[in-house]
Amino acid sequence: MKEQNQTNSGNIKWHNLTIDRDKLEKMRGHKGMVIWFTGLSGSGKSTLANALNEVLHLDGLSTYVLDGDNIRHGLCKDLGFSDEDREENIRRIGEVANLFMNAGIITITAFVSPFISDRNKVRKIIGSQDFIEVYCAADIKVCEKRDTKGLYKKARLGEIKDFTGISSPYEAPENPEIVVDTGSLDLNESVQQIINYLKQENLITKAK
Ligand code: ADX
Repeated sequence: MKEQNQTNSGNIKWHNLTIDRDKLEKMRGHKGMVIWFTGLSGSGKSTLANALNEVLHLDGLSTYVLDGDNIRHGLCKDLGFSDEDREENIRRIGEVANLFMNAGIITITAFVSPFISDRNKVRKIIGSQDFIEVYCAADIKVCEKRDTKGLYKKARLGEIKDFTGISSPYEAPENPEIVVDTGSLDLNESVQQIINYLKQENLITKAK
């Protein structure tokens, strides 16, 4: 069991639980892991996360989706889009994803998560063997053309500041486990690419 070392408060001690990750994974019949989608706004992260979740869930696997727009309604509603706030956003999600994974759940996250250093910190929290980074590689031209939420238009007009890809950087992953060409593949093909990877790595046995 991984111990938590750095805390600001003194006099606290890590408790090992009797019903631990190992037992929970045995009960669920598969490993806990984190499937971390990253990419520009409009690159298809949320859609793909939701579709993947559906397939795995219908096959009886324990899954849960943490999605950027949703999490910013609650846990991270105090955060904006400065570099510092994004860093804190991703740190919190990394910790939450770690808790879900320790409960034996296939945890699917959909955050822009634009900075390599922040994603690498999450990789460290989770452990590289359980962290599957999926780059939704749709080009900004495609995302801007889709503009599903009308945010690119607003960003171009200067109505939204620090907008990823326009006025704030996006650092593409250098060595992701999976690159999905969400600019040209359809949704089923994209889901299938991820399922194929999970099967090939023996992370799941079921699913279509
Ligand atoms: S992250 O950069 O901190 O990872 P997160 O994924 O939580 O971002 O939230 C991104 C979502 O917030 C986008 O999908 C978009 O709908 C919305 N959004 C609003 N303002 C911005 C902005 N300035 N930059 C990027 N996304 C924004």
